[in-house]
Amino acid sequence: MMIRNATEADFMPCVNIVRAAWPEFKERESIYHLFCKHFNHTCFIAEEAAGIRGFLLGFLSQTHPTQAYIHLVAIDPGSQRRGLASSLYRTFFETVSRMGRREVSLIVNPDNGPSLDFHRKLGFRAEEDGPTVQVGGVVALKDYNGPGKHMVLFHKTLTG
Ligand SMILES: CC(C)(COP(=O)(O)OP(=O)(O)OC[C@H]1O[C@@H](n2cnc3c(N)ncnc32)[C@H](O)[C@@H]1OP(=O)(O)O)[C@@H](O)C(=O)NCCC(=O)NCCS
Repeated sequence: MMIRNATEADFMPCVNIVRAAWPEFKERESIYHLFCKHFNHTCFIAEEAAGIRGFLLGFLSQTHPTQAYIHLVAIDPGSQRRGLASSLYRTFFETVSRMGRREVSLIVNPDNGPSLDFHRKLGFRAEEDGPTVQVGGVVALKDYNGPGKHMVLFHKTLTG
């Protein structure tokens, strides 16, 4: 398995992986095209001889010069629990560290148990400042993504 930067042509495989890995997740698929085309220094593909198995789409904050943000990670269902997402995150951390970033953030849906477990395992910590709400025992920021769309906001400080 190799990790490489995304290219514009990776947009469709990314769409297909999200559809397979997380069918209930709905967002405009054009966003994957935008990331692969315009943010590819911080977007990564996990690829094997048989094809693309997963991806990470992230960017450098324009507003906060020490921060980077991960929009989405997804791994093909047949390739999960083999460390692919962890490898993509390591590559992202190393890349944005070299670019002067010291903190990585992202949001997770509070009912996405596997993603919560994955991010906690990688050392992310949930922000609990501000109005919060419990969703199935998980503390989420109230209305973070709109009315009733509570989200867990994770941060990780990069060291080294
Ligand atoms: C979350 C996701 C990206 C993890 O990818 P992955 O390549 O399987 O993750 P890794 O193999 O690197 O897992 C690293 C660790 O995270 C945790 N983890 C990963 N998947 C898990 C799951 N389904 N249940 C519980 N813990 C899990 C484990 O601690 C795992 O270590 P272990 O396998 O040694 O126990 C993958 O399940 C996925 O694509 N889900 C659908 C899309 C999605 O929800 N994306 C996140 C949106 S916020």
